[in-house]
Amino acid sequence: MIQGPAVDGLVNLRELEARAEAILDPVAFAYYSSGAGDEDTLRDNEAAFGRRRLRPRVLVDVDAVDTSTTILGVPVGLPVAVAPTAQHGLAVPEGEAASHRGATAAGTLFCLSTLASRPLEEVAAAAEGPRWFQLYTHADRGITEDLVARAVASGFTAIVVTADMPVIGRRDRERRGGYTWPDGMYGNFGKYADERGAHPQFLRSAMTWTDLADLAGRVGLPVIVKGVLTGEDAELAVDHGAAAVWVSNHGGRQLDRVPASIDVLAEVVAAVDGRAEVYLDGGVRRGTDVLTALALGARAVFVGRPVLYGLALGGADGVTAVLQVLREEIEIGMALLGTPTLAELGPAHLR
Ligand SMILES: Cc1cc2nc3c(=O)[nH]c(=O)nc-3n(C[C@H](O)[C@H](O)[C@H](O)COP(=O)(O)O)c2cc1C
Repeated sequence: MIQGPAVDGLVNLRELEARAEAILDPVAFAYYSSGAGDEDTLRDNEAAFGRRRLRPRVLVDVDAVDTSTTILGVPVGLPVAVAPTAQHGLAVPEGEAASHRGATAAGTLFCLSTLASRPLEEVAAAAEGPRWFQLYTHADRGITEDLVARAVASGFTAIVVTADMPVIGRRDRERRGGYTWPDGMYGNFGKYADERGAHPQFLRSAMTWTDLADLAGRVGLPVIVKGVLTGEDAELAVDHGAAAVWVSNHGGRQLDRVPASIDVLAEVVAAVDGRAEVYLDGGVRRGTDVLTALALGARAVFVGRPVLYGLALGGADGVTAVLQVLREEIEIGMALLGTPTLAELGPAHLR
């Protein structure tokens, strides 16, 4: 049984949303939970996993099941890590510092958003575990450069370039809820108070493939492209220096009516053709979702909203509890699929 303040007795990740809604400020809940447009993609992310069917093998020795792997060489205890999401301070005052501690305790990697509530130095100091920095480019190039330099100095070991937000998607529930961004100088931008601009500048991503190649060529850390939904863009990402390609539709928050992430994974894996690692996020709520993505060729998957809800419900312990439920489901799923190690998973485990 999972322990932790408000996550006591958590049975599965689907329960989280209702539990979080009951305790979160309605504006914060609308911001966290909403998707773009009719939310077709938001719903499909989860539903598409439910349409997949597995092919288990029996009478395999599964006494010792091992969920550990590496993500870009970083050892992790399970093939699930924390996706970058903005504004953890809406869940608990400690914000991303607590989330990073929760991920470390669960034995996995934490990816910090540019739009975090807390400064990256504070988050880095909060936990020992591995961390990556997600980058939104600022209209002011100097600020972007400085953000990256700060991330490098604070022990973030990869830069995740989010490519699917040249503009912010239109999310009806978020609008109806009345969510507004805090003053532009929160979190990572407090340092730039003298050079300040309004918040939307942070999201005006002028980045192109040329900028990506430029960044990858000089940052000294692996660069990952997040938000890829086609084989064409996956190839371009690798050709322009990406160390990994991250399949994502931003949790259904950007362009509605794009496919569920799991439904484009095979196309991306085929296009990348072993030249880079491939990750996936969007609608991962079950151990079987994780195993399905790995069988299709993902190296690891990331979770967004469940971590925010776990954080709201139980702080760092809540985040750990959410990841622990997934770990337990993965262990049982591996035993029942007849795959004691993750490396054995492949297309033969899917119908
Ligand atoms: C409230 C919220 C804020 C997000 N903020 C960011 C962000 O700042 N940067 C980013 O790259 N992705 C952001 N995302 C997208 C997540 O990284 C991820 O793609 C998505 O949440 C995965 O889907 P899931 O929530 O179904 O697990 C955000 C998602 C949510 C729900």
